Amino acid sequence: MKIALVFFLLSSTFAGEISFYKESVLFKKNDLESLIQKFETRDLSINDPFQSTRLTFKVIKVKQLFHAIYGREWKNFNRIRFTCADGFQPEVPISFFLKYDSFLAYSYSTTKKPFRIFNRSENKSASLAPLYLIWASPKKNLSQLIPPSYWPYQIVAFDLISFKDPFLQLKPQNQNFTKGHELYQKYCLSCHQLKKNSLEILNSKLLVKENQNKLISYILNPRLSKPESEMPMLPLDAKDRKEMAQDIASFLFYLKEDLVKKSK
Ligand code: HEC
Repeated sequence: MKIALVFFLLSSTFAGEISFYKESVLFKKNDLESLIQKFETRDLSINDPFQSTRLTFKVIKVKQLFHAIYGREWKNFNRIRFTCADGFQPEVPISFFLKYDSFLAYSYSTTKKPFRIFNRSENKSASLAPLYLIWASPKKNLSQLIPPSYWPYQIVAFDLISFKDPFLQLKPQNQNFTKGHELYQKYCLSCHQLKKNSLEILNSKLLVKENQNKLISYILNPRLSKPESEMPMLPLDAKDRKEMAQDIASFLFYLKEDLVKKSK
């Protein structure tokens, strides 16, 4: 009876399939119901980063899922790119999945509650279906440690990305900029993809700021210069956020100079 109810709820909110890619090539496809049936499910409570409340979900373990779909080799890749129903494509380093316990939620523990969330920073309610990636630790509050872009919802596809990926090839030789490269990957890449030698993307979007100081203040608070901006500011509780913004800005300006040099 309980199982039938879950399936009813799933099918009423999401009828499609979940796709699994490897290096952007389709690898497997499963419908959500049969996928969930294969795994041990449990109830899990977490501090949610969007609604900032404690919520209890029905979940499956990410490691178990990846292992079943991709085999042991998934750990050798660099990151996972998620595709969400609204087109958002955040990327999460594999190292996070090895370091912290992560789960895919497919409904609230009380299946009567609609599988939606109120996103406070966007001030709107959103569907979480079909899958919502969440993190749990017995000791730490991961909603503060792991950035919100690493908690994608409406997940419809997974893609394993290797070290051959263009963004990693943009890693600067010069040690002064490697911190910025790392921070960029963590806080910006989910919305601003960088491709090798894509000066165009850099110019059109990221480097409209004529100098580093303007870029830094934009990163710290986009709404100061652009009140309607949809871009999130760097997490307010990061104690070295000024330094973080400086590192990101100097990485981007270094990249610009480097790309201009190469294009000549
Ligand atoms: C959740 C998605 C998201 C993330 C994460 C994000 N941005 Fe943005 N960014 C946007 C959007 C959307 C715009 C388009 C203009 C706007 O709404 O401000 C934008 C615009 C920009 C601009 C152009 C501003 C202008 O004057 O038009 C810069 C520069 C920028 N982002 C840098 C960054 C950097 C650096 C990071 C990482 C610290 C970052 N963004 C993280 C969504 C994001």
